[in-house]
Amino acid sequence: MPATSEWQSRTVDRVETKYRRIVTPIPVPESIPILEKLKRCEPEAMGGQPPVVWDRAEGVHVFDRWGNQWLDWSSGVLITNAGHGRAEIVDAILSQARKPLLTSYCFPNEVRAALVEKLVSMSPAPLEKAFLLTTGSETIECAIKLARTNGIKQGGREKSVIVSFDRAFHGRTLGAQMAGGIPGLKEWIVNHDPGLVQVPYPDGFRTDDVGFALFEETLERLRIDPRHVAGVLLETYQGGGSSFCPKEYIQQLKKWCDAHQALLIFDEVQAGFGRTGKLFGFEHYEVVPDLACFGKGLSSSLPISAVLGRQDVMDLYPPGAMTSTHTGNPLCAAAALANLDLILRENLALNALKVGGIMHCKLAGIKNKYPATIGAHHGMGLVAGLHMVKPGGKEPHGELAKAIVRRAVEKGLLMFAPVGFGGATVKICPPLCINEEATVEAVHVLEECIEECA
Ligand SMILES: Cc1ncc(COP(=O)(O)O)c(C=O)c1O
Repeated sequence: MPATSEWQSRTVDRVETKYRRIVTPIPVPESIPILEKLKRCEPEAMGGQPPVVWDRAEGVHVFDRWGNQWLDWSSGVLITNAGHGRAEIVDAILSQARKPLLTSYCFPNEVRAALVEKLVSMSPAPLEKAFLLTTGSETIECAIKLARTNGIKQGGREKSVIVSFDRAFHGRTLGAQMAGGIPGLKEWIVNHDPGLVQVPYPDGFRTDDVGFALFEETLERLRIDPRHVAGVLLETYQGGGSSFCPKEYIQQLKKWCDAHQALLIFDEVQAGFGRTGKLFGFEHYEVVPDLACFGKGLSSSLPISAVLGRQDVMDLYPPGAMTSTHTGNPLCAAAALANLDLILRENLALNALKVGGIMHCKLAGIKNKYPATIGAHHGMGLVAGLHMVKPGGKEPHGELAKAIVRRAVEKGLLMFAPVGFGGATVKICPPLCINEEATVEAVHVLEECIEECA
């Protein structure tokens, strides 16, 4: 029985290297009852990922129960910056659990205090206060709320517009999705908030014009008075394509925000904590935002997220008015603290820069070899996106991207399903502790997959 219509179990070549081991058909026939159970009991929307039933994950590896071992290029979904199942993180969780102190709502607890202090001390001014939440989407909702509250306070109720970007992804809750820039994900939102608008994202591929003038021209076209803008929200790099903005653009944006008393908000949910080769992704632009949203790599494990921001903005609400049931949950906070210690102690941002540099060099070579099928290669540090296109043009080629990911998984290189515009970006985002040897092997596997599928 097939697990999904797309992934019939099939015999694949045996793989046995230092980093990868594939010894069964894929999907593993014995795993199919589990996959079917998920399909039966979960919403359809939870499907779509390669049918690898994770049993254990350590460092840069994911293992199933049937003897297969993948070299991981997913980090879950850019979660495990420090690596999967790091002993230091496991120990921190266990010792916190054994106290036991499993929750404390907003009552003070010591580990939460240590975490917010750590976050504030490692962040540049003016990121002076930290508010802990559970998911990335919640941090976006919170940042929108704070920016609007601040705008209204500065300039009255008209100063409430939040500008975000085409093709942006900020999460799946109402506000986060409205601030997103992917029309297909927003069809269900009947009453669009006219105060949440999008402008072109200067990625240099889907939007050729990377000049800042386009930002101002678009606001003018949308009849948005700059004085009414409360905040500008953007991903440090767009997750859908691993696409960064030009530094010059962001520096002008920062000046524009300051001139119009609009908060600059970076969504660092993917970019934070070393992923891009800097501790914070916004360092590449040599600006510091007024608010920054973090999630994923903050703990490399348990669900915890954070908004960091200017003290005057973070303190806009009085005691008890900006809280969340699981804020700074002690287990999650312990995991995050241990994770941040690892990222700093092992200088994983530097590793991402070095190993990522080698990876990007090789990916650029692959792009040059297949110019008709790889429309663009974006990314920095240990995040990359290959934008697959129909021969010779810019039309996204989602089917090809899917076929490449499937071949990679069959060869022991784990990637999540393609993302981004037209579902055509093959996304590469290993744990930041990956070494050069494993990276070179993985890029070689990817090249084989492209060769076989293109
Ligand atoms: C840039 C970015 N922002 C926000 C989110 C939403 O985070 P979460 O899924 O934890 O709500 C994501 C998730 O992929 C993301 O990539």
